[in-house]
Amino acid sequence: MSAAVAFLFMTPDTLISAYRAAGQGQVFAFWDALDAAARAELAAQAAEIDLAEVERLNRALVFQAGGGGVDLADLEPAPCTRLPENGGRADEWAAARAAGEAALRAGRVAAFTVAGGQGTRLGYDGPKGTFRVTPLKGKSLFQVFAEKIRAAGLRYGRPLHWFIMTSHANHAQTEEFFAAHRYFGLDRGRVHFFRQGRMPAVGFDGKILLEGRGAIALSPDGHGGSLRALHRSGALDLMRAEGVDTISYFQVDNPLVRAVDPAFLGFHLLAGSEMSSKMVPKAYPEEKVGLFCRQRGRVAVVEYSDMPAARQRETNPDGSLRFAAGNIAIHVLSRDFARRLAAGGGEVALPFHRADKKIATVDAAGQLVKPGAANGVKFEMFVFDALPFAANPLVIETSRAEDFSPVKNAEGVDSPATARDDQLRQFGRWLRAAGAEVATDASDRPHAGIEISPLFGYDLDSFRSRWAQLPVKPVVVDGLYLE
Ligand code: UTP
Repeated sequence: MSAAVAFLFMTPDTLISAYRAAGQGQVFAFWDALDAAARAELAAQAAEIDLAEVERLNRALVFQAGGGGVDLADLEPAPCTRLPENGGRADEWAAARAAGEAALRAGRVAAFTVAGGQGTRLGYDGPKGTFRVTPLKGKSLFQVFAEKIRAAGLRYGRPLHWFIMTSHANHAQTEEFFAAHRYFGLDRGRVHFFRQGRMPAVGFDGKILLEGRGAIALSPDGHGGSLRALHRSGALDLMRAEGVDTISYFQVDNPLVRAVDPAFLGFHLLAGSEMSSKMVPKAYPEEKVGLFCRQRGRVAVVEYSDMPAARQRETNPDGSLRFAAGNIAIHVLSRDFARRLAAGGGEVALPFHRADKKIATVDAAGQLVKPGAANGVKFEMFVFDALPFAANPLVIETSRAEDFSPVKNAEGVDSPATARDDQLRQFGRWLRAAGAEVATDASDRPHAGIEISPLFGYDLDSFRSRWAQLPVKPVVVDGLYLE
């Protein structure tokens, strides 16, 4: 039984004693001034925390300058499967696609979206998945994914299960949003929401911070927390009962993502891989993406911030970048691998990372203080840290223009404006490939505001076959919507 689970059965007195014994008695500094409801709430939050884990993280990450550093010895680029147009074998891609399609027809695949992030950079008030992102209809990110998942279910004759990880902060709003939109036409029995875990923030002295007199500063435990949460929520059991053994993982912020990609799934399944990842070649040496590397026989992602500038610029004899495979956070995981990692223990637990943040916290008088500079540490797990534990991990190239345009910032790079333009370019490319005339600017962006519903076509292939069936081909003008 973990410490946190044991705490659930403790009386407040024993809980307080345990916190005092761990040097964390400040969590209950205002206990005497709280009413019964506030006490119950604080006790419940305190019971959620594994004090031994906090102690371990304090020692490993907080008290140690630099957080222990990252081992970059023996680092080489991870082997990658290239796209056919970049030297990959077309016959292998065709075989992979067929294998992925067979798995989809057999109902072995579930979609999985991690949507528990705080989305602070976007600064949007609401769950990020409810953000309106498409160029013409202003569909939300959730609607875009829902339509892709529905379209794949129709195409392969097996509706997919869709698992959505939320946070404590956005869970209720996310569920309400889906209910209000009637699950965007999906079978509501196949859309599953569950909350991710939380971790307490600590000061630089390792003390757990309060964000109110009766409230611990808790925040989501990172997208890596998805593995624990899949397990704890019963999602993995449900998958097993439904014959799902393959999980198509993607983030909530990427409207271009091929939510289920037959070729990617097929490579993963044919290789008996436990975890596979999509990569795009870095656009320029300093691009801020994690890099797929191999170290002493294991595949791992090294974050750009941990990669010295000189290594980021290393080149191959032909002048191309040596460390070029950028991580775009699209993975396939086997269900059993997720379970093994979630169960954790010993050698197979995801590590936590330290992030120094400004954390609003109460002072000794119980007044809320908003700091001007970082005053504490949050702990997060990253899903890509699962890769070194995976058997036969694969890294598969994809086309950035067809798979990746995240909404991270309010303005500038990776913003609603760039995602909108990238969607327009994709629609324009598909239309042109099908023979339509599309006027574009120098950046290939169509002049006309157009949109293609994923239910009409969610990749070039499905788009082309549907387009071919149209008895009269529409002219590409402002306002053209195909569904
Ligand atoms: P980001 O790293 O972009 O973080 O998450 P974020 O919290 O959404 O945004 P910022 O940094 O505060 O601006 C990448 C993906 O991982 C999910 C996010 O919802 C997004 O889909 N995520 C992140 C979680 O599900 N849980 C987390 O604890 C963190």
